[in-house]
Amino acid sequence: MATLTPFFLFVIFSLFNPSTPSPVSLSVTPTVLAASGDPIRIQWSGISSPSKLDWLGIYSPPDSPHDHFIGYVFLSSSPTWLSGSGSISLPLVNLRSNYSFRIFQWAESEVDQHRMDQDHNPLPGTTHLLAESQRVRFGLTRGPEQIHLAFTDKEDEMRVMFLTEDGGGKQYVRFGERKNRLHEVVAASMARYEREDMCESPANGSIGWRDPGWIHDGVMTNLKKGVRYYYQVGSDSGGWSSTHSFMSRNWDSDETIAFLFGDMGTTTPYSTFIRTQEESIATMKWILRDIETLGDKPAFVSHIGDISYARGYAWLWDHFFTQIEPVASKVAYHVCIGNHEYNWPSQPWRPMWSQRIYGTDGGGECGVPYSLKFNMPGNSSEPTGTQAPDTRNLYYSFGMGAVHFVYMSTETNFLPGSKQYNFLKHDLESVDRKKTPFVVVQGHRPMYTTSNEYGDAPLRERMLEHLEPLFVKNKVTLALWGHVHRYERFCPVNNFTCGSMEQNGEDWEAFPVHVVIGMGGQDWQPIWEPRPDHPNDPIFPQPKSSLYRGGEFGYTRLVATKEKLTLSYVGNHDGEVHDMVEILSSGQVVSGHEADVADHALVHSTFSWYVKGASVLVLGAFIGYVLGFVSRARKEAAMRNSWTPMKTEDI
Ligand SMILES: [Fe+2]
Repeated sequence: MATLTPFFLFVIFSLFNPSTPSPVSLSVTPTVLAASGDPIRIQWSGISSPSKLDWLGIYSPPDSPHDHFIGYVFLSSSPTWLSGSGSISLPLVNLRSNYSFRIFQWAESEVDQHRMDQDHNPLPGTTHLLAESQRVRFGLTRGPEQIHLAFTDKEDEMRVMFLTEDGGGKQYVRFGERKNRLHEVVAASMARYEREDMCESPANGSIGWRDPGWIHDGVMTNLKKGVRYYYQVGSDSGGWSSTHSFMSRNWDSDETIAFLFGDMGTTTPYSTFIRTQEESIATMKWILRDIETLGDKPAFVSHIGDISYARGYAWLWDHFFTQIEPVASKVAYHVCIGNHEYNWPSQPWRPMWSQRIYGTDGGGECGVPYSLKFNMPGNSSEPTGTQAPDTRNLYYSFGMGAVHFVYMSTETNFLPGSKQYNFLKHDLESVDRKKTPFVVVQGHRPMYTTSNEYGDAPLRERMLEHLEPLFVKNKVTLALWGHVHRYERFCPVNNFTCGSMEQNGEDWEAFPVHVVIGMGGQDWQPIWEPRPDHPNDPIFPQPKSSLYRGGEFGYTRLVATKEKLTLSYVGNHDGEVHDMVEILSSGQVVSGHEADVADHALVHSTFSWYVKGASVLVLGAFIGYVLGFVSRARKEAAMRNSWTPMKTEDI
């Protein structure tokens, strides 16, 4: 009897005290998810005085402190929020830990001006907890996730990397030419990194850090040329992935197809501590359309720095790899390093002139997730200068069809005498132009840009002084850069001077064509603004050397045969080609002249016929992960009624 007394007291108190609020209920369905990216439905009721600032916190691990959410959504994004009840659907990415959800009440008077996100929006307050949900977990036999392919130094190989929650069991890759006969088996190596490997906050702080799981790396060997291979990754004990396929490289073919961009990032179906890149969804969607349309032609993706924009918030890497998997499980996904993977105050190479260039953009990751989650050809590396593993994937090259592709790092030493400079010089001088008549060099920070990007000027000066002569001497066809979140194509150029394009019957000069392709997803960038010291003197009209500037998100598509290389700029709003340049194996630029682009007509490349009518295919293939984001977009629109994000500049 004595043990029941408090309960009866509570009931009696509640009955005779009408001001006691009814409890808020919060439920989630389902509580077990089969695959990363599957949606859940969160429902609540019983909020007696709903406010626009009531919010739902998303937690993983579920016992995280109140202010260590991974993200939040305002309840007012549900159309029925004013009634005190509502629901929200969210796709959940597997973070190898359970999720839980909490509802908080937050008043405008409680806004803390000292707790801001990167856009200077106040982070929501956690004083008044109204309800907490049950936990949500992922099923146990789902197999590895975040699958992505890459070329190795051998043309008859394909690397596949993937992630598991624990390192308990050996993981394998099984593959073969027939979907139901994956008889070849290779063991994968495994690696992980620790919180202590991170160099600064937020990456090494308790808000940003999450267990990254185990990274597995397997290489499929002895592949035939230009054949479709099927593969799975996993193990009998831990489960197998679904079956994926790719086209192996065909080094006898002279055809080359690649999709290239920089600065794409990822996005989340909730607000978090930093801005994410919604446009990355469309970039991946259109590239997937192109890949589906290609059928049995090999291709690859090139993402030239500023990869996930996680910047120390670990779960954004998980979102990134989940988002690219529909593409990266089908074609090799190649990368080079950007400031947002790397820069931190004590990075090893930081000469005096670079003090304002190499700042804190890596969010304390100091290249560690980038170095372990990818494994590019070439074995280049630099010491991190801490206990962390070396920084790798810095510079490398490979041939595909008619093109020799070179990747470089603008974040580590590239000056004469450095390992990287020696690599670039030797690599460019030893290209067999009979085999690969075209050479495409890629790096993150541009050698040429007309954007309002003054901070990097000392770096550009050194690139122009030391690298441009190498590029010109060795007749580099194309130089592709990111970092500036726009598309800009230059004339064939040397020392700011356009080479002749033989439009008037004169001799032409095979100078490199520089193109900035950082329009993959990140939106921090004023569009060709006036210079700060010339507010009334905008940089329009364009300098003569800049032939096309576009502000639209998208990507470029490279198609080459032994005779001709075509680079097209595809815009995300319509998936159509908006600019194009064609270069012959002699180095002569045969289209993309000023006259060609002056009428702003939509340019149709030779690729266009592939693409027509194929959009329906891609939507089916991309549907699982993206549908959640469609509903998210609607909710964000609703959120914007009550919250206007401020924007700061960052690249
Ligand atoms: Fe950048």
